[in-house]
Amino acid sequence: MTVKKDENIFKGVVHNMDALKEKILNEGKVLSDKILKVDSFLNHQIEPSFALQLGQEIVYRFREENINKILTVEASGIAVAFTAGLELNVPVVFAKKNRASTSDFNVLKSSIYSFTKRESIDIYVNKNYLHKEDNILLIDDFLAHGEALKGLVNIIRQSQANLVGAGIVIEKVFQQGGRALRDEGVRIESLAPVASLAGGKVIFCT
Ligand code: G4P
Repeated sequence: MTVKKDENIFKGVVHNMDALKEKILNEGKVLSDKILKVDSFLNHQIEPSFALQLGQEIVYRFREENINKILTVEASGIAVAFTAGLELNVPVVFAKKNRASTSDFNVLKSSIYSFTKRESIDIYVNKNYLHKEDNILLIDDFLAHGEALKGLVNIIRQSQANLVGAGIVIEKVFQQGGRALRDEGVRIESLAPVASLAGGKVIFCT
């Protein structure tokens, strides 16, 4: 891992995301032209020090923003969101999935369709944890069709908070979710943008 030095770097830390790309190439499994499995460090097992580097890099990319809260969705977004929250010393809220709530009136809710799982689920956040004064950074592990991110954006709009942007670990650019959200003006920073998984090979955009 190469660590660049730069006087303007937020908290003095910036990470070269070549290490992430190498990890994806070495440990990832391409299950089909559409699905990349990265269980060894993101979706099943978590390497805390590596997750910290991912969180720090996302925070660095949004260093000009006055973020006071991070929002993600359970489950796999939480690890990276947590490390970013630690770096910024701000709270991390995670949207919950699918549970019918007895206190529905007090939640902000959005329905999302999973193309991977072919089902719709509700995600929700208790109103106590999002306020219109908040300046929120979204974080998630994967961006595919963008359904999860759209659901989170929708929840932020309901709360009237300000959305700073979204930090994503792996964006499958060929599935277009990022394009739709960028077209709506959402700033998205992806640490590892994947152009293609065709033929069992991971091809990165840059
Ligand atoms: P979208 O949210 O971008 O539209 O993606 P989609 O509906 O296709 O994905 C549904 C779930 O599958 C999400 O996780 C998403 O992160 C995950 N996912 C999408 N593409 C991939 C992939 O190529 N590899 C892996 N490993 N996951 C992928 P989830 O159901 O919310 O799961 P979890 O966060 O509870 O683990």
